Formats: sequence, structure tokens, C-alpha cells
Amino acid sequence: MNILIIGGAGYIGSHVAREFLDAGHRVTVYDNLSSGLRQNIFRDEQFIHGDILQKEQLSAVCRGAGFDALVHLAALKAAGESALKPEQYSVYNICGSINILNAALEAGIKYVLFSSSATVYGEPDYLPIDEHHPVRPANYYGFTKLEIERIMAWYDKLKGIRFASLRYFNAAGYDIQNRITGIEMNPTNLIPVIMEAACGIRSSVQIFGTDYKTPDGTGVRDYVHVNDLALGHLAALDYISLNDKSLTVNLGSEKGFSVLEIIEAARRITGRRIVTTVVERRTGDPAILMASAQYAKESLAWTAHSSDLETLLDSTWKVYQN
Ligand code: WQD
Repeated sequence: MNILIIGGAGYIGSHVAREFLDAGHRVTVYDNLSSGLRQNIFRDEQFIHGDILQKEQLSAVCRGAGFDALVHLAALKAAGESALKPEQYSVYNICGSINILNAALEAGIKYVLFSSSATVYGEPDYLPIDEHHPVRPANYYGFTKLEIERIMAWYDKLKGIRFASLRYFNAAGYDIQNRITGIEMNPTNLIPVIMEAACGIRSSVQIFGTDYKTPDGTGVRDYVHVNDLALGHLAALDYISLNDKSLTVNLGSEKGFSVLEIIEAARRITGRRIVTTVVERRTGDPAILMASAQYAKESLAWTAHSSDLETLLDSTWKVYQN
């Protein structure tokens, strides 16, 4: 198929683009490079430098090359920042996504894969979290993702667009074949922060609270390897195009690791000290987030194969140590 990947120069987007290329699809990446990297652009894909807020350019691109499907991964994604700058998250995440959906409609692109997030669930009522769990985002970033899901459901009903909303748990790791080596700028997620401390980009890792109701008091998350996530996108496109049906599905490893477990494992794998300082909790952080990926298994025959802690950290350290 001919695929447009919006945000395809980003951390997850570049892994998705690589898997689509390897599966024989034609790929065009549309990215404003605000956080995406030129070094993440592959020789065997087309690249267009553009922004999802430039409606005319976006429409022209979508109409231009007879795309069969588009993948939408362009978003502001820092949960904490979304509380400070909701107006930016409204414009970029919500208005930008509406621009994409309207451009897709206008261009007759029927299939849309959307990068959603486990943050749509908020504080869990039960664990592991399945797709029937109530959606009560605890931060504005999660709210924007849920709103876009709701708009897509209406576009499915009214216009026949078929979408897959992929609720990523915590994306981590780097391409196991080491084909993607661009490190994120100013990361806020735990593992890249730890790796920055391991290679001296920052002096220490702040641990946001040690008084959670978890075995060691620190937050537990479900980390899923970006290679696994990318394969989930391939499977989801097959599902919505072959069944002509939309899908909302969790993509998670079903394993939980605490902050301290990750730090200890990173010390072992990197051989570096990794200084930590305990600070107060970060508002809105649930104690534990873990996915049930049962529905992904049933509908997509998908499970996370590369999301063990060793692979997650080893593949990341290979990139950071260089
Ligand atoms: C993981 C754990 C922190 C940093 C967010 C988004 C989510 C998704 C993934 C985009 C928590 C602790 C973290 C640090 C720490 N993003 N931590 N010190 O918050 O689970 O999810 O990123 O889709 O939508 O909400 O990920 O990596 O920020 O935190 O102690 O410097 O590590 O408290 O327990 P999170 P995270």
C-alpha cells in the first residue's frame, strides 16, 4: 500500500516507517521536525517537511499521491506540560488531528492509524487495564487523545473512515537492528532520562515519589518496545482494511516494572553509577499502569516479543553510549 506517515521522523514514527518499508509498503513521511529528526529519515522513503497546522499544504499532500492509508503520530506528548499549556495541546493535538482527518476525507484516504495512549484511562479501577476499562484521563494530554478517538468514531459512522486507535502503554527501547539511532531531545520519559544520566548528559535522575502502593514504593509501568509497537501498526492496518471495521486496542507488554527496578537494571547494563535523587510525586501519576493485551492477541494476533527489560534497556544503551 501507499502510506502517509505523519510524524514519521519521530521516535515511534521512525520505527513505524521502517516496519512499513520492510513490509513492502511505499512510505511518505510528513513531519515538521519540531521533535522528529532528519537522521530518522530513510533513503527508501519520501520526506515532506510540513506541519499539521498548515491545512492547505496538508490537504495538497494528502490529495497528491493516491495514499491508501495514513498513520498519525504527530502530537505534543508531555502529560505534565499539557497542564501548563492546554491551549498549545488543544491547537496542535486536537485542531491538528481534525486537519488530518478532514484532509484524509477530502483525499479519499479511508484508513487511519492513530497513535493513542494509555493515559486515556487515568487512575486504574482494576489491573491489568483492558479496553472496557472506563476512560477518565487525569491530564489534558490524555484528554486530547480521547477527544480525537471520539471524533474518529463519528467520522467512521458518518463518512466510513476506518481507524485503528492504538493505545500505547509506555513506549521504550530502540530498533533491535540498530537502524534508528537518533536520540530524543529533552526527554521527560524515565528510560531516556536514565540513559542521559548514564552517559553524563545530565547529572542525576529524579525519582518522583517512593511512597506509592507498590512493592518498592515507586511507580510501576508497562514498557513496550517500539519494534513491537511498530508491528502492531502493520497488524492494525491489515485488520481495518480486511474487515472494513475500526478498532481500538491496547498495545502493551503486560509486564510491569518499577522505577527502581529499571534504574537497577540500567546500572547493571550500562555499568554506570546513575545518581538518583528522590523528590515529591509528580501530580497525576498513577501508582501502577499495566495493560491487558488480550484483545490485541485475539484481533491482531499481536503480542510484545521484544519488551523484556534486558532488550528494552540494552537496545537503548547501544544508542546512547554512541
Ligand atoms: C514512568 C514512571 C514516573 C521520569 C507518559 C505519558 C504517556 C506516554 C508515556 C506518550 C512514572 C517515573 C519518570 C523521571 C521518574 N507518553 N519517572 N522520574 O508518565 O507513565 O507516561 O509517557 O504517549 O502518555 O503520560 O511515563 O516515563 O514519564 O514515567 O521517577 O524523571 O517513571 O513517576 O512512575 P508515564 P514516564
